[in-house]
Amino acid sequence: MGGAMLEGWLERGAREVVVVEPHADAMAGFRGRVTACADAASVPKDFRPGAIVLATKPQQAEAALPAFAAMAGADALVLSIMAGKTAGGVAAMLGGAARVVRAMPNTPAAVRQGFTCAFAGPGVTPNQRELADALLTAIGEVAWVEDEAMIDPVTAVSGGGPAYVFLLAELLEQAAIEQGLPPDLARRMARRTVSGSGALLAASDLDAAQLRRNVTSPKGTTEQALRVLMAANAWPRTMSEAIAAATRRSRELGG
Ligand SMILES: NC(=O)c1ccc[n+]([C@@H]2O[C@H](COP(=O)([O-])OP(=O)(O)OC[C@H]3O[C@@H](n4cnc5c(N)ncnc54)[C@H](OP(=O)(O)O)[C@@H]3O)[C@@H](O)[C@H]2O)c1
Repeated sequence: MGGAMLEGWLERGAREVVVVEPHADAMAGFRGRVTACADAASVPKDFRPGAIVLATKPQQAEAALPAFAAMAGADALVLSIMAGKTAGGVAAMLGGAARVVRAMPNTPAAVRQGFTCAFAGPGVTPNQRELADALLTAIGEVAWVEDEAMIDPVTAVSGGGPAYVFLLAELLEQAAIEQGLPPDLARRMARRTVSGSGALLAASDLDAAQLRRNVTSPKGTTEQALRVLMAANAWPRTMSEAIAAATRRSRELGG
């Protein structure tokens, strides 16, 4: 996820970026565009970042964060995208003085089509909030929430949401093959149907339900498919259960 955001920022002209990433191979796509360090101790001593983005897995936070405490201080903006980890908890792992904006982005950030929900933790200054907003707006749309608890369902819906949409593309492709279409055609069709529908949704003022109805002629083929998908125990129920499960997991990760 950190790489997706970085891709978006570099495309917008970000300069003087230092990335701490233990795996050199994960940095292959960024060679020559950023300074890569294998650990916090290798960051140039005179580097004073305006913003520090924390993008390790939540389970790695406790081991990873203390090494950044000196760098974080109270002047730099700390932007944490770790699922579950509260702004206060992250500040504590950084020694207590850090000013933390907790954000939940998603991977379309790589093509600057992301959606991020953000929460400003204790002590975040208006300038730091503005910087966070500028960074996040550079990679898509941003919404700020004043209640941190909202970040858990946000994580379930928009943080993980691209995975559910990509699953739809996978399943459409499989179903097309099952109906006898050649795999190449099935793949092209499924990808373009999902990405084209997303583009139409983005371009349209109509809500999703109306766009769906526009495809559904009475007594037609789509109506037959939707009868299966929209049955009470099908997509409406599984989507609701899936989002509830992810929301629970986000709360658990917070400890
Ligand atoms: N994936 C998403 O779509 C998404 C969306 C929203 C938010 N997030 C959040 O973004 C974070 C990263 O998720 P991800 O899926 O991108 O995970 P990921 O691919 O595993 O990225 C985390 C990277 O941090 C590295 N790392 C581990 N310890 C480190 C340390 N001490 N210093 C610096 N880097 C260290 C990891 O290396 P190792 O491989 O050795 O562990 C890994 O390369 C998570 O907290 C997640 O909740 C993800």
